[in-house]
Amino acid sequence: MAITCDCPMAQPGPTLAATCGGGAFMLFMGLLEVFLRSQCDLEDPCGRAQYRRHMDSVYDFIVVGGGSAGSVVAARLSEVPEWRVLLLEAGFDEPTGAQVPSMFLNFIGSSIDWGYQTEPEPAACLGEKDKKCYWPRGKVLGGTSVMNGMMYIRGSRKDYDDWAAAGNEGWAYEDVLPYFLKSEDNKQLDKMDRGYHATGGPLTVSQFPYHPPLSYSLIKAGEELGYQAVDLNGEHHTGFSIAQTTNRNGSRLSVARAFLRPAKNRPNLHVMLNATVTKVLINQTTRQAYAVEVRNSFGGTEVIFANNEIIISAGAVASPQILQLSGIGDPEVLSRAGVKLVHNLPAVGRNLHNHVAHFLNFHVNDNNTTPLNWATAMEYLLFRDGLMSGTGISEVTALINTKYSKPADDNPDVQLFFGGFLADCAKTGMVGEKLGDGSRSVQMFPAVLHPKSRGKLEIGSADPFAYPKIYANYLTHPDDVKTLVEGIKFAIKLSETKTLKKYGMKLDKTPVKGCEKIKFGCDAYWECAVRMQTAPENHQAGSCKMGPRGDPTAVVDNLLQVQGIDRLRVADASIMPAVTSGNTNAPTVMIGERAADFIKKRWLGASNAPYPVSGEGGVSNLLSASETRYPGWQLWG
Ligand SMILES: Cc1cc2nc3c(=O)[nH]c(=O)nc-3n(C[C@H](O)[C@H](O)[C@H](O)COP(=O)(O)OP(=O)(O)OC[C@H]3O[C@@H](n4cnc5c(N)ncnc54)[C@H](O)[C@@H]3O)c2cc1C
Ligand SMILES: *[C@@H]1O[C@H](CO)[C@@H](O)[C@H](O)[C@H]1NC(C)=O
Ligand SMILES: *[C@@H]1O[C@H](CO)[C@@H](O)[C@H](O)[C@H]1NC(C)=O
Ligand SMILES: *[C@@H]1O[C@H](CO)[C@@H](O)[C@H](O)[C@H]1NC(C)=O
Ligand SMILES: *[C@@H]1O[C@H](CO)[C@@H](O)[C@H](O)[C@H]1NC(C)=O
Repeated sequence: MAITCDCPMAQPGPTLAATCGGGAFMLFMGLLEVFLRSQCDLEDPCGRAQYRRHMDSVYDFIVVGGGSAGSVVAARLSEVPEWRVLLLEAGFDEPTGAQVPSMFLNFIGSSIDWGYQTEPEPAACLGEKDKKCYWPRGKVLGGTSVMNGMMYIRGSRKDYDDWAAAGNEGWAYEDVLPYFLKSEDNKQLDKMDRGYHATGGPLTVSQFPYHPPLSYSLIKAGEELGYQAVDLNGEHHTGFSIAQTTNRNGSRLSVARAFLRPAKNRPNLHVMLNATVTKVLINQTTRQAYAVEVRNSFGGTEVIFANNEIIISAGAVASPQILQLSGIGDPEVLSRAGVKLVHNLPAVGRNLHNHVAHFLNFHVNDNNTTPLNWATAMEYLLFRDGLMSGTGISEVTALINTKYSKPADDNPDVQLFFGGFLADCAKTGMVGEKLGDGSRSVQMFPAVLHPKSRGKLEIGSADPFAYPKIYANYLTHPDDVKTLVEGIKFAIKLSETKTLKKYGMKLDKTPVKGCEKIKFGCDAYWECAVRMQTAPENHQAGSCKMGPRGDPTAVVDNLLQVQGIDRLRVADASIMPAVTSGNTNAPTVMIGERAADFIKKRWLGASNAPYPVSGEGGVSNLLSASETRYPGWQLWG
C-alpha cells in the first residue's frame, strides 16, 4: 500500500491543544501530545503506510471514501494480489490525539469534521441558530470511525429480517451474522453469548479497560426497572450493557487502523489522501461506470480509470451527493443544479433518516473520580488504563421498549445514551466540571430507534465542493415525538431508582428555552422540549436505499449495485433501507464486508462464502487466509 498526497510525510492533523482552546490547557495538552506521539501504537510509525508521489491512472477497482465501509472494501479487495485497488479519501491520515478514547468529542468541529448543517428544520432543532441541526462526519482516513463513540452494536435480529422481508434477498439476520463474525476479534469471548462472536478478524472488540463506578450503578438501576445486563449483540437485543467497543488496548481502533494498516505492505493497494472525487463517469452507450474525476492535492483535476468497478463509500451524505453530481438522480433536482441527466433515479438522496434524541441534564454527587491531570495521563501513557482509556459513562447504553413496542419482538424502540465523567480537556479538564454545589453534571439521551420521519438530500449546484442541501425533517411524524417523550420518561424513572438516588441524581429542571410557559414535566412540555432542544444522533442512513429491482424508492439492489448502471456500487450506511436498532458503525463494517464478497464473486467466480462459525471463536482471518490462497501476491511492485 502506498499513500500519496502532496503533504508532509506525517500529516499530524488537529492537535489536542487546538481542540481544547483556552490558554490554561495549552501547555498541559501540548506536552501530553508530545508524549502520546512518542508511543508507537498510537503514532504507529511502524504501522502507517509510506507516502509517495506517483499514482497510476488505471486500476481494477476504485473505492471512493476511506471511512467505515470504504476501508473494509479496499482492504478486502486488495487481498486478491492480481487486482490493483485505489482508495480515494478526501481527508488526511488520522491524528494521534483522536486515538485517545476520552478525547472522542474533541475532534467534532475540527478540520477532520465535514461539519454539515441541515437546512432550517420545520419541526426540530428549533432552538438552534436558524433552526439548523449540526451533523459531524469524519473527513479523514477511517471516516467517521475516527470521531465516533466506538460502541460496537450490531442491531437486532428483526432489523435485518425486516430488510430481507422487504425484498432484499440475502440480508436476513442469519445471512449477515457470518459477516459480523468475519470482521471480529473479540477479546472477551468468555463474557459473551456463545455462537455470536468470533476471534481472528481485523476488528478488535472489547470493553474499555476502565469503567467509572457510575457505569456499574447505571446497570444496577436498569435491573431495578426490569432490564437485565445482556450481550446486546448476542441472543437478546433488549437490555442494559457496558458496551464492547472498537478499542485495542485502550486506544481507538478506527476501521482504517483495523483494516488498512495490516495491508500496508501490499503493493497492489494505493491510497490517495486529500483527494476529493467530484464525479463518476458513465459510458452512455454501455451504461457502465468507467472512471472517476478527482481533485487532487495539487489542486488539479484528474481522471482515473477503473477496469472493473467503482465502489462509492462516501457515507450517507456524500454518496448520494456524488451520484447526483454524476448525473444519477431526480431529473428535477439535477436540472435545478445544472447537472446533465445521465440516469433517471429519483430515489437518490431520499429516505434519509437518523436516530433522533433529546438530551436531559442531571446532577450527581459522585466525585469519586479524578479529572484529567498528570496522574491520569501517566496511567494512560504507561498502562493504557484509567480515565483516558474510556469514554466515561458513554460506554453504557440501554435498548428498551416503550409502551409503543412489543417486548416479544426483541426489537426495542428506544436507545438510551449517557454522557459524563469524561477526561477530555474542555469539560472535566484540569479545572473539573464541578457545578457550584459540588455536584457534577451527567446527561442521558433517549433516542428513537425506528424513526418514521424521512428527510432528503439534494445538491444545490454543480459545484462538487458545495455542501448538499440536507432536509432532515426530524420529528415530522407524530409517532416519533410520542416515542421520544416515552423515552424521556424512562430516563427520568431511571434517575429515580434507589441505586441512582444514592448518588443524589436529580434532573436539572431549568426549563428549555421556548417551553417555559408549559408546565414542566407534562407530555406537552416534553413535546415542546424535543423540538426546541433536539439532539440528532449520528446514525444517518438510508439515502441510497437498497431495494429489489423495480422498487422506485430504491437506489441499489441486494448486491449493492446501482440500479440501471453497471460496474457501480454503493457500500456504506446509506444503503440501509431502515436504520438498525443501535449505533451504526458495526453494521457499516458488515456492509463493507458484504460488498467485497459480492465483488469477489462476480469477478473471481469463486465461492467466497464466509468462514464457518465456532462458539469458541477460532474463525480464521481471511486477510492471512487469502494471502496463502494467492501465492503470487508479490506480483505488483
Ligand atoms: C460523534 C459520533 C459518534 C458516533 N458514535 C458511534 C458509536 O459509538 N458506535 C457506532 O457504531 N457508531 C457511531 N457513530 C456512527 C458511525 O461512526 C457511522 O455510522 C459510520 O462511521 C459511517 O460509516 P460510513 O462508511 O457510512 O461513512 P464514513 O465513515 O463517514 O466514511 C465516508 C468517507 O468518505 C470520505 N468522502 C466523502 N466524500 C468524499 C469524496 N467526494 N471523495 C473522497 N472521499 C470522500 C469521507 O471523508 C469519509 O472518510 C458515531 C458518529 C458520530 C459522528
Ligand atoms: C463507451 O463504450 C463504447 C462501447 O464499448 C465505446 O465504443 C466508447 O468509446 C465508450 N465511450 C467512452 C466515452 O468511453
Ligand atoms: C490538499 O489539496 C488542496 C487542493 O485540492 C490543496 O490546495 C492543498 O494544499 C492540499 N493540502 C496539502 C497539505 O497537501
Ligand atoms: C464529594 O461530594 C460530597 C457531596 O457533595 C461532598 O460533601 C464532599 O466534600 C466531596 N468531596 C470532595 C473530595 O470533593
Ligand atoms: C498495552 O499497552 C501497554 C502500554 O503501552 C503495554 O505495556 C502493554 O503491553 C499493551 N498490552 C497489549 C496486550 O498490547
